[in-house]
Amino acid sequence: MSKVVVVGGGGYVGCVLVEELLAMGFSVRVVDRMFFGREPARGFLDRVELIDADMRDFDAAHVEDATAVINLGGLSNDPTAEFNPKANREMNTEASIRVAEVTKRAGVPRLIFASSGSIYDRGVGDDSKDVLLDEESPVEPRAAYATSKLAAERAILPMATDSFAPVVFRKGTVFGFSPRMRYDLVLNTFVKDALSRGVITVHHGGAMWRPLVEVRDVARAYVMALQVPEKVVSGQIFNLVTGNFRISELALRAQASLMELGIPVKVDVDFTYRLVRSYRVSGAKAARVLGFHPEVTVEESIARMVEQINLHGYTDYSNPRYYNIDWMKLLEEAVEIVGKHGYVLSKPHGKGGSSRQPNDGANRPTAALAES
Ligand SMILES: NC(=O)c1ccc[n+]([C@@H]2O[C@H](COP(=O)([O-])OP(=O)(O)OC[C@H]3O[C@@H](n4cnc5c(N)ncnc54)[C@H](O)[C@@H]3O)[C@@H](O)[C@H]2O)c1
Repeated sequence: MSKVVVVGGGGYVGCVLVEELLAMGFSVRVVDRMFFGREPARGFLDRVELIDADMRDFDAAHVEDATAVINLGGLSNDPTAEFNPKANREMNTEASIRVAEVTKRAGVPRLIFASSGSIYDRGVGDDSKDVLLDEESPVEPRAAYATSKLAAERAILPMATDSFAPVVFRKGTVFGFSPRMRYDLVLNTFVKDALSRGVITVHHGGAMWRPLVEVRDVARAYVMALQVPEKVVSGQIFNLVTGNFRISELALRAQASLMELGIPVKVDVDFTYRLVRSYRVSGAKAARVLGFHPEVTVEESIARMVEQINLHGYTDYSNPRYYNIDWMKLLEEAVEIVGKHGYVLSKPHGKGGSSRQPNDGANRPTAALAES
């Protein structure tokens, strides 16, 4: 049976992809620090091999018997990349190169690296730059996150040989329900705002373009890239996109869909200027070469999100675990306090000493932190 290693398989995309891989008959090994806890992966943990390891220490043991590696690990948005640029570079660039090198050296024939469409960002304001971009278009990323992804791409793609096929996916902003839910992605944020306060807020008049792609379509695309012959995809970049939407249009479509579901929502538009990302990209190459045609519409995805959010009880909308930067900051702060003072609910041991580790699971400070 083909064994696929998914680095970052416990994340938002990973949790959906792992289920898809299992459904398609692949055997799966997840390599993940499980920063967001194990709970979201509960549905498949007994059907995969989980290696709780840092991608910065990725080694040959992680790819033993593997037929392919998919790398979804690292920091996955602008705010977290800017929060700690060193960790961002270490994970998104250096560790991603390491994952590719280890994979190639071990004789595993295929590696797919999760890059990002944000590499294309051209901002708002210069109409001459407002054109549809493809994989050949010049790119000049401005932010730390996109810069780190591009640096990794540029090191990984030239590793291609007759026996090693590296592939890069530049995904648009992903949307849709995942058991590891994120409410910090634009359409998911709109749905969360509608459900929690009945208002969708659109910044900068919603003038910016954003390519979007649904999480289940993303999972299908990864599987497709595992199934086509290596020589077809080796050394190639593919944009993954369902469509390009102005944020204003996206908000109105979300409003209409939610109204149809009986959820009243207002759209609040803010016209003040702020630094916003804007870019639109072509998905034609993925259609032509991979045969990838997105199937899930914005409207279908919204309906499913509402249903699944309620079903799984992901209605504690202010919980930091749904927002990567909030979660990262909370974990950092907790580590600092616990490191200095020990856990609150367990008595410090020794003379004036602090307990650096919890005595047992029951004494951990909060349910949320206990999981990570
Ligand atoms: N979600 C999007 O809209 C989007 C768009 C374009 C590209 N991407 C890229 O796709 C990938 C997956 O995105 P996501 O939304 O699932 O992100 P996520 O933050 O939900 O998941 C990342 C996973 O990687 C793990 N991880 C992080 N650092 C690690 C480390 N040092 N060692 C081991 N594991 C580590 C985390 O525990 C988490 O499970 C990322 O590379 C992201 O940059 C995402």
